[in-house]
Amino acid sequence: MASHDVVELLTQQHVRIRSLFEEVANTKGEERAQHFHDLVRLLAVHETAEEEVVHPFARKNIDGGELVVKDRIEEEEKAKRVLSQLDDMDPDSPQFLDRFTSLREDVLAHADNEERYEFAHLREVADKGKLENLGRAVKAAEAVAPTRPHPGADTAVKNVAVAPVATFVDRTRDAIRKVTGT
Ligand SMILES: [Fe+2]
Ligand SMILES: [Fe+2]
Repeated sequence: MASHDVVELLTQQHVRIRSLFEEVANTKGEERAQHFHDLVRLLAVHETAEEEVVHPFARKNIDGGELVVKDRIEEEEKAKRVLSQLDDMDPDSPQFLDRFTSLREDVLAHADNEERYEFAHLREVADKGKLENLGRAVKAAEAVAPTRPHPGADTAVKNVAVAPVATFVDRTRDAIRKVTGT
């Protein structure tokens, strides 16, 4: 049976995030736009699930949780702002690549910080059952998060306006709150 352990799930998502960053950096044109689009959705779902499910638990339960979580949330807020800016840019412009490269460094450092200062300590304060309950909530978040039509996808969705990143994140949060009952 697939694991529901929240630390495993989020660490696996970090691996997917890392490889999507690579795909965006190593492609061009339409292909890059598609990978970037996938990255926006995954980051929105991942960071929002952390904010709604994992950070509140860590804040209360790990040593120095208040400070650890405060720093992580600041990193996440910054990443979302940059993601919004990138979303409005031409993915083939040098400006996009510059900003994208610094976002990539920041987000990967953020993920390392989470693994080291937050996730490792979750294992110390939460038993297997609790880690699995948190993991189930993260899975539910991924399942209910809205999709964003691909840019330039087939004609059926061509006329659907793509929601700005901030709106998309809001909708993701609303969907997650519904399933987690918060
Ligand atoms: Fe995060
Ligand atoms: Fe994360």
